[in-house]
Amino acid sequence: MNKKDQLFAGKAKTVYTTDDPTRLILHFRNDTSAFDGEKIEQLDRKGMINNKFNAFIMQKLEEGGVATHFDKLVSDDESLVKNLEMLPIECVVRNISAGSLCRRLGVEEGQDLNPPTFEFFLKNDPLHDPMINDSHIISFNWATEDEIAQMKELTFKVNTILKALFKDAGMLLVDYKLEFGRFEGKLLLGDEFSPDGCRLWDAETRNKLDKDRFRQGLGGVVEAYEEVAGRLGVKLD
Ligand code: TMP
Ligand code: ASP
Repeated sequence: MNKKDQLFAGKAKTVYTTDDPTRLILHFRNDTSAFDGEKIEQLDRKGMINNKFNAFIMQKLEEGGVATHFDKLVSDDESLVKNLEMLPIECVVRNISAGSLCRRLGVEEGQDLNPPTFEFFLKNDPLHDPMINDSHIISFNWATEDEIAQMKELTFKVNTILKALFKDAGMLLVDYKLEFGRFEGKLLLGDEFSPDGCRLWDAETRNKLDKDRFRQGLGGVVEAYEEVAGRLGVKLD
């Protein structure tokens, strides 16, 4: 599959067309962004780690019955994926309170959430990804009722699969963000699953092993991502 033209450059990935209009190539760059692009730095090896980490997770999700856009790795930092019509929506499930939930609701970080919460956000950096609800999605025609139901069901299914996977590797899946898109009449999981888009804590010490290390200037960002990959058995080199 040959890479053709650059279609779109996001904050951390660039999307290319291929010979096949139904397929795209995702290039995972070293750029690391926080606060909707306000803080951006290059972190050596991050693109490669996230590409391989994402491939590993997408395969686990497929095995667990979640259909994804992922086809295969094509290089250290590139993957071949299906060309989805992406919905402009971010789906967030939280198992433990952290991040914007604490800021918005004034609750302490680290509380177990039973049952886990589900939130929709509009994918819009200039507006800082505002929280939206089902009613906004329907009124603005961002997705159908059926797609809303599927996004919720699939995002919780991902939680069941990944909470267990991370628990077995000594980690807590605190929260994560997923994006979905349409492909041949079906809703598939798109974008990526990596430590850039989720929170992972060591189960014993509750040390942060995700992009909060970058957001909060804690250092050791790539080392933490490598630690997570190593614990899961993701092959990096
Ligand atoms: P939040 O606490 O900032 O709302 O984020 C919740 C989770 O979703 C966290 O794991 C980070 C992830 N996330 C992204 O990766 N990108 C985004 O644009 C947003 C809003 C959240
Ligand atoms: N993904 C967003 C950004 O890159 C938000 C965040 O992760 O803080 O700016």
